[in-house]
Amino acid sequence: MLIALSIIISYLIGSISFSYLITKKIKKIDIRKTGSGNAGATNTMRVLGTKWAVGVLLLDVIKGIVCVLIARAIGLPEWAVAFSGLAAIVGHDFPVYFGFKGGKGVATTIGVFFMIMPLYALIAGVLTILIIAITRFVSLGSLFFLLLTPVLGWFFNDYSAGVLIIAFLISILAYYQHRANIVRLIHGKENKLGHKKIQA
Ligand code: G3P
Repeated sequence: MLIALSIIISYLIGSISFSYLITKKIKKIDIRKTGSGNAGATNTMRVLGTKWAVGVLLLDVIKGIVCVLIARAIGLPEWAVAFSGLAAIVGHDFPVYFGFKGGKGVATTIGVFFMIMPLYALIAGVLTILIIAITRFVSLGSLFFLLLTPVLGWFFNDYSAGVLIIAFLISILAYYQHRANIVRLIHGKENKLGHKKIQA
């Protein structure tokens, strides 16, 4: 019962789309119909600039952190804590308040991975920043982070099978959400940070 409650609350919290709400409020446009069409921090940077993008990034990260904290506060086992994190990411990607069209879940996944696998998320996070700084592809860095964190958890055998399976499910969902980015990366057509011409 508590597990179901935590999953529902996490989904509802995850569904709060900060990039949508903020761009709507400031520019009166739907972020999902501009730039890459993604309701996330990277696209907020294209629409509103770096300052707002950092704000959206932090708020989306906090969504993941809060859901994990709630699940832990009510005493759920660690697999159910991770599952609540997954529910928050599903909410971010398919938000109930905004016609189930949201983002790709990277920032919320950062929050969840930092809570359930802090050391590996930190290692993957530092390398990710380097990749983005060198290549200017946020999606490439995101994909690297999303895979490396659970792979490190699995490789060093630090987590239960339940937590690992959920971490890899989070990763698979994020790869699915990035399918258009992956095609663009393969064809050399992915959007670079700071470039004006955007492919959706
Ligand atoms: O935040 C998602 C990022 O990995 C890519 O975003 O807008 O370039 O598709 P975008």
